[in-house]
Amino acid sequence: MTMTIRAACIMGWPVRQSRSPLIHRYWLKQHGLMGDYRREAVRPEDFPDFLARLAQRGYAGGNVTIPHKEVALRLSEPDERALAVGAANTLWLENGKLKSTNTDVEGFIGALDEAAPGWDDGLQKAVVIGAGGAARAVVFGLIERGVPRIHVVNRTLPRAEALRERFGPGIVPTSFDDLPGALEGAGLVANATSLGMEGYPDLEIDLSPMRADAVAADAIYLPLETSLLRAARARRMRTSDGLGMLLHQAGRGFELWFGVRPEVTSELRARIEAELLREQN
Ligand code: ATR
Repeated sequence: MTMTIRAACIMGWPVRQSRSPLIHRYWLKQHGLMGDYRREAVRPEDFPDFLARLAQRGYAGGNVTIPHKEVALRLSEPDERALAVGAANTLWLENGKLKSTNTDVEGFIGALDEAAPGWDDGLQKAVVIGAGGAARAVVFGLIERGVPRIHVVNRTLPRAEALRERFGPGIVPTSFDDLPGALEGAGLVANATSLGMEGYPDLEIDLSPMRADAVAADAIYLPLETSLLRAARARRMRTSDGLGMLLHQAGRGFELWFGVRPEVTSELRARIEAELLREQN
């Protein structure tokens, strides 16, 4: 009898920073599966060829990160979600065809549901900061959950306007100057920019105009506690962090490649958190 080892990978340039191998290897071990999940540093110019030979390289699929998410969408058969978001982060081979989806949507929403249950009850207005691929996934998730009005705040206003074109009149393109007005009475603020990430300036934001029961979410996980989340906790707001999003986006890929739906447990979270904190110090 021959045993086939199934494998998946994270493709990016750079890819060193990715924590996905820690997550998938944990699940492989937990479920006693013969399999592997590797980092693949793939230059943009080599990416199309790499994808074309995915099966030859022994991969059942993989994740894609910067800067490949838009190209991955073009070079695969995307589902509705990936198309709506305009980016693919999860790829898998099905009957010889390369399919794709975008699991950042369920990552963002799954993390929020876990960290702040009921966050969307009666939620009329949300504020999303950023207008890139991460912001499009966040906005799409909020629309799916029925949030009627979403302010998209971005340094480059035409990019926020493009989100209104894509997602419709519920999107209100907003400049940073108008952020205080947008936060007035809002029940959710989400950061999907690079602001607050290691090596970038902090996102300085006065949360006082928000509802008393408002929730703050950040897509960044390095550092784990961003300036936004720190400000929110100081106001006793509930928060959802980027690690929650990373963990919750990972499960669907694992299920597609290895055939088992894994769980995001507190033990898994604690492990990755310890790893991140060790690196930070
Ligand atoms: P991703 O796909 O991860 O969302 P992206 O498309 O490069 O990445 O988007 C990065 C986001 O962070 C954008 O909203 C960007 O604002 P611009 O559209 O104006 O570039 C935002 N961003 C990055 N650096 C920023 C900075 N120094 N100040 C304000 N916004 C910043």
